[in-house]
Amino acid sequence: MVSAPKNRYPNIFDANQAGLEHACNLLRSGKLVAFPTETVYGLGANATNAKACASIYEAKGRPSFNPLIVHFPDITEAEKRVSFNAKAQKLAHAFWPGPLTLVLPRTENCDIAELCSAGLPSLAVRVPGHPIAHALLQQSGLPLAAPSANASGKISPTKSEHVAYSLGGKVSCILDGKDKACTVGLESTVIDLTGEVPVLLRPGNITREEIEDVIGSIQLGKSLMERKAESSSGDETTEDTLQPSDPLKSPGLLKSHYAPTLPLRLNAVDVAADEALLAFGNKPLTGSGYYLNLSEKGDLLEAAANLFAALHALDQKPNVRGIAVMPIPDTGLGLAINDRLKRAAAPR
Ligand code: TXA
Ligand code: MG
Repeated sequence: MVSAPKNRYPNIFDANQAGLEHACNLLRSGKLVAFPTETVYGLGANATNAKACASIYEAKGRPSFNPLIVHFPDITEAEKRVSFNAKAQKLAHAFWPGPLTLVLPRTENCDIAELCSAGLPSLAVRVPGHPIAHALLQQSGLPLAAPSANASGKISPTKSEHVAYSLGGKVSCILDGKDKACTVGLESTVIDLTGEVPVLLRPGNITREEIEDVIGSIQLGKSLMERKAESSSGDETTEDTLQPSDPLKSPGLLKSHYAPTLPLRLNAVDVAADEALLAFGNKPLTGSGYYLNLSEKGDLLEAAANLFAALHALDQKPNVRGIAVMPIPDTGLGLAINDRLKRAAAPR
């Protein structure tokens, strides 16, 4: 039997066997479960279910699609989804399970929702060290996409009550880590290993020096370098003195790395024969050779779940001069969808 939830917050559950089973069932049916890690509480969803991942953004009220970290019980499961190079392997063996996130190229048959990569060819992966996180990953058998379990713009949670307070009923179940959760208390260190030289995207508990001891020299991400230059002392500043809780935009990556090759025409009210159509709603425009509908029902959650896969698919159509996009309402998840579409349509 599932243990009685705490009175004040009906969605906080003890992380005993019954609580874990309850959480696994919810995750399998596409619901959100918050769980403790050694860094902060994560807001988890089945990472292979695009709609479940879209509901993460909806619950957090994120106005844009930041890529999400996907969590695994061990390196073997991660290796099925991303390609590890020699440096990534060394780092994983040195620091996993633990507060380190590796950004690596997605494998060709990667089953993780494209929304987790926000259209990038890479995916951020991590094997967390907390026993409750590990048990949930192991018992559910699911890779879990999980950003910090707070409303967008608010502080990352290190207690189950913080999650309940910040997200309320938007999360079906919060597994309680009691006082043993989140001993690190800061989000994981994020390192991008997709290029020649590894790049530190977000500082954290595992320091630049510790990483360099294992794989040799690395670079600071663009936003970290800008901050270093701005810092008044200008000498002894390291990434450890920078504030990891700052809203580090993942280093301009989103803007430069992914845009469709074809030009996008937004808020289209008509479509030409040589344009591909990205439709929304039950009255798609007619006249185009290729067309995909983000959601026939006009459901923004479904539209968010389909967005990146649809853009990729239309972008590959031959003999098309551009993609016409029907208007998407600018409310709820529509804000994040329109933010992404505007970036994709911006002149390059
Ligand atoms: O400690 C943590 O990492 C927590 C716990 C729950 O694991 N999670 C967390 O996730 O902090 P989130 O979504 O709040 O932060 C993810 C960071 C962001 O800075 C994001 O831009 C970056 O990782 N990121 C994720 N995927 C990326 C990718 N493919 N390329 C570059 N940066 C990526
Ligand atoms: Mg966060």
